[in-house]
Amino acid sequence: MYLPKITDDIIYVGVNDRNINIFEKYIPVNNGVSYNSYLILDKKTCLLDTVDFSGVRDFIENVKMALDGRKLDYLVVHHMEPDHCASIEELLLRCPDVTIVSNAQVFKMIDQFFNIKYKKLIVKENDILDLGNHQLKFISAPFVHWPEVMFSYDLTSKILFSADAFGSFGALSGNLFYDEVNDESYLSEARRYYSNIVGKYGQNVQNAFKKVSNLEISMICPLHGYLWRENFDIIIQKYMKWSLYEAEDRNVVIVYASMYGNTEKAANILAYKLASKGVKNIKIYDISITNETYIISEIFRASHLVIASPTYNMGIYPKTKELLDAMIRLNVKNRYIGLIENSTWAAFSNKLILEELNKLQGINVFEQKPSLKSSVKVIDEASLQSLADEIVSSL
Ligand code: FEO
Repeated sequence: MYLPKITDDIIYVGVNDRNINIFEKYIPVNNGVSYNSYLILDKKTCLLDTVDFSGVRDFIENVKMALDGRKLDYLVVHHMEPDHCASIEELLLRCPDVTIVSNAQVFKMIDQFFNIKYKKLIVKENDILDLGNHQLKFISAPFVHWPEVMFSYDLTSKILFSADAFGSFGALSGNLFYDEVNDESYLSEARRYYSNIVGKYGQNVQNAFKKVSNLEISMICPLHGYLWRENFDIIIQKYMKWSLYEAEDRNVVIVYASMYGNTEKAANILAYKLASKGVKNIKIYDISITNETYIISEIFRASHLVIASPTYNMGIYPKTKELLDAMIRLNVKNRYIGLIENSTWAAFSNKLILEELNKLQGINVFEQKPSLKSSVKVIDEASLQSLADEIVSSL
């Protein structure tokens, strides 16, 4: 059997999707996505989640191979988003006697998604499913990322099956464990995954963390991306910061919208002024070119954000408004923000953006808000310098 074992009797039966370009038809992915699933071969056999329908053929083959002629006793469903549940019906066609184990909210969703008959075992927080040697204890984790989500903790192997938590975009390439790759770019993708998908629910993530913080954990097995069996701190510390809306780095991200290059020039001048004062690792993004999900990830990473944007039809430039909507939707908090506007005949951008930012908590907007008239003039350089000075003094 070529399927990897994560312990002597737990087999990885997940699949990879390298054809996918856009996750949830919204978030671009450049390196695919993995849909992780695990099969415990104990006195009772127990499958933990299924996979996206795109991988159903491989998945069913994997489960069949891993079972090696045994029947499947249980399917535990941790999360009912279709990237994990879509293959339940196909599984039931092949394993009609399997008992689905989950909480009442999951069963409600199963009946919403499918028109199927099945055996069910409803479990609650701290209930234990006895598989013989392994004992799965259930921990509710509402809104990490949907309301029905639960984790399970194997009292025997000390593995935490963490649903979407600690997951990331990126297909797996043979290596299942992060310690086999130690790829920091993966952590950036983990942040982009977290911030855009779970970002809104930081308090819920904190609540779930409290429930698992005293557990002895040998391995974390999420539903996407690498598994963790050492150096847990790498991912846990990231999750702590992200869920508390604390910046990872004290540095500056500048995003600009610029139809004809003049606002872009102001962004570049500000960056030079910051750099000349010793600010390092400044990042500049064109809001019309860089997909919003990457910018959101950067906003979760950095302590300081500058938005440079023109007035558009006496309102906020559309791409800037989309970013602000995403920041509000995802509950961005606790950031320093600088504003630069540009206008030829109506200067409304800074005022209107400020109104949007006032919907966020813990936002400090810098006093100096440069307002350009069409292009950067000498006088504007002075206000950009003042903004740079304010930013530097807050870093
Ligand atoms: Fe990977 Fe919320 O589903």
